[in-house]
Amino acid sequence: MASEKLPGIVRRRLLQAARAAMKQAYAPYSHFKVGAALLTVSGDIFSGCNVENASYGLTNCAERTAIFTAVGELGPKMIIEAIAVVNNQRLPCSPCGACRQVIFEFGPEATVLFQGLNAWKTLPITELLPEGFRLQ
Ligand code: THU
Repeated sequence: MASEKLPGIVRRRLLQAARAAMKQAYAPYSHFKVGAALLTVSGDIFSGCNVENASYGLTNCAERTAIFTAVGELGPKMIIEAIAVVNNQRLPCSPCGACRQVIFEFGPEATVLFQGLNAWKTLPITELLPEGFRLQ
């Protein structure tokens, strides 16, 4: 979806799936539970939560959990049309830099829905990650 605007029905379905996934989060260290849900161009929805580790750097963000689940189910041609992120503290939470690169890999035209500083935002991934890295 090249447009920054998400149809209301897509927005609601993604937020609902992201909130359900958030409840599965394993976040005993930060207590910051995150859920993400993505819509593929083929119309499927996948979701994921953050999974932390005692060795903090091994933590997997909700966005990447959702994306890796989608690839595991649909294969390497999976393309993200839109992805939404929610958290249990209603804090501003845009995808981290690592997740932006992974979103870009599987959805160079993806729309990202997240809680911004003052309001919900829908932005193209290329606005969150200009000049994303490509190998081919
Ligand atoms: N986190 C995510 O899952 N997604 C984001 O977009 C931001 C951060 C997680 C990682 C860690 O488990 C917790 O939030 C605190 O950083």
